Amino acid sequence: MCGIVGYTGGQPAQEIVLESLKKLEYRGYDSSGIAMHEGKLVICKKEGPIANMEAELTESKSTLAIAHTRWATHGAPSDVNAHPHSDEEISIAVVHNGTIDNYLEIRESLEAEGHNFRSDSDSEILPLLISKYYSGNLVEAVNKTLDVIRGIFTIAAIHKDNPDEIVAVRNETPLVIGLGNSENFISSDIYAILKYTQEMIYPEDYQIVRVTSDKVEVLDRDLNLLDYNVETVEKYTEVAEKGGFEHYMLKEIFEQPKALQDSLTELLVESPLERLGLNWKIGSMSIVACGTSYHAGLVGKYVIEQLTAIPVSVSYSSEFRYAAPVQGVGGLLSSRPLVILISQSGETADTLAAARAAKQQGCHTIAICNVPGSRITREVDGVIITKSGQEIGVAATKTFMTQMQALYALAVNLAFNSGSLDHPQTKLWESEIRKIPSKVSQVLNNCESIRDLVPHFVKAKSVFFIGRNINYPLALEGALKLKEISYIHAEGYPAGELKHGPLALLSKDTPVVAIAVQDHTYSKLISNIEEISARKAPVITVAQKGDQLVPKISDHFFELPDIDPVLSPFPVAVFLQLLSYYIAHELGTEIDKPRNLAKSVTVE
Ligand code: F6R
Repeated sequence: MCGIVGYTGGQPAQEIVLESLKKLEYRGYDSSGIAMHEGKLVICKKEGPIANMEAELTESKSTLAIAHTRWATHGAPSDVNAHPHSDEEISIAVVHNGTIDNYLEIRESLEAEGHNFRSDSDSEILPLLISKYYSGNLVEAVNKTLDVIRGIFTIAAIHKDNPDEIVAVRNETPLVIGLGNSENFISSDIYAILKYTQEMIYPEDYQIVRVTSDKVEVLDRDLNLLDYNVETVEKYTEVAEKGGFEHYMLKEIFEQPKALQDSLTELLVESPLERLGLNWKIGSMSIVACGTSYHAGLVGKYVIEQLTAIPVSVSYSSEFRYAAPVQGVGGLLSSRPLVILISQSGETADTLAAARAAKQQGCHTIAICNVPGSRITREVDGVIITKSGQEIGVAATKTFMTQMQALYALAVNLAFNSGSLDHPQTKLWESEIRKIPSKVSQVLNNCESIRDLVPHFVKAKSVFFIGRNINYPLALEGALKLKEISYIHAEGYPAGELKHGPLALLSKDTPVVAIAVQDHTYSKLISNIEEISARKAPVITVAQKGDQLVPKISDHFFELPDIDPVLSPFPVAVFLQLLSYYIAHELGTEIDKPRNLAKSVTVE
């Protein structure tokens, strides 16, 4: 939450940081701002999306800039609460991502020293503290400030005395340094600066980084120079443009066949178990994640348990770390428990905290993540990188798809390894997994019939999504997608549970989306549809190709491509994503940036 970029080099900085900052808007869009050096520090900041701030800018020759896009924590979205913040003399400008826990006491003591605060932001103490400790050396001043503050943060500061210096430091929130040719960058993620460089440094917590146009220095808290690794990251196709699509979300939904295809190689070909350090007999497994990633984890549970018979528990990250310790088989750590953490961003604070709790308990930890080099990938024992490319729309779509795919591939590998699948069966599974991108494409090709369903939803105050077995998590995901982008209240339920309470809410104004695939739960689901219809609630069913019964008992019907029920979550997900998208589009909501949300949730 909150995005930071910075540049120092030989080129006009404004254009570069603006372009990069726009790629971080997924991290928050309550306000944005930029600080540059034009003989003196010049700051421009504005409430609302980056375009509002951009409209206020004039041409600048500054070759130094830091910029910020905000997701409000302390203080409402407004011009004054926007970053960069500065001291009274505007000798220092600071951007901050995170929260300062002890800002109130610091603020009181700074006020007692005669400082006047202009904003409600916890971040405003930072330039005042840095200024207080500054005596010609910005690194020293930032270092002294670190003695005083507690919290989670990425901080970047510039000073009017030096038009070629950014000092940055992190604790728990992301910071990458990009190395260019006589120019260097700082950023909250690699994607924002990937256009300019693929050479990245990932500083550790509390390492102070001094960036000038021709040098990057990394220092410890005693201000000793440290060695650092430079990592070359893979170049992803530029995603800055929407490629003719009206929204990033729609573009990303349509990119799913490619995302699945690109992720396949790593998942199926490169003997993942060895690479993941999974060379022992796994007795139990926990999957831990938030939001959409949690739903992928629930799907994974069905597949892994079905193929391997390893018991899998799935927890929300925010609950996992407070739960009883993870147990091995029979409640004893007779076999090292495995914890799989799923996070597309790799920065979600709840999931990071869960990863640490799991490690402390001696578990083997594996992350499924879409951002190479992100925080979680550096903290766990093994990593599966999904190759969806950057996802900009706040609502997760293509990353959900590749997370599920990763879990299917893992299940097949584990099953082969443990002998529960033999070689021909494993090959059969692999060939089925390879067919998924084409099944997903078939749903995309049929998008117009999904759009035709929109009139049945736009007036609804509430929508229910139901499914059974492996499609129960899809019901949860369908409801989450709809509520976050259309703001229509929605609930996902196991189909068998409606009669235990929620049926009381159904009426002709409460559409129900039923996922009916022909697995062993099919006949029960048919009964549930009948129960709903008897209460006059409109039923919109997504069912398998060739289903003769469902069209007769549903008000509306969408036909999935011919697919094994166990693989149905993939085309079902596309149906649900497109349905939510078209409903939200009809309602005119901010689809790519839903209110109150941000893509990377770095607070607990
Ligand atoms: C919903 C959505 C969120 C994320 C959740 C976890 O569309 O995007 O629910 O899934 O915040 O994020 P990651 O996967 O980055 O840990």
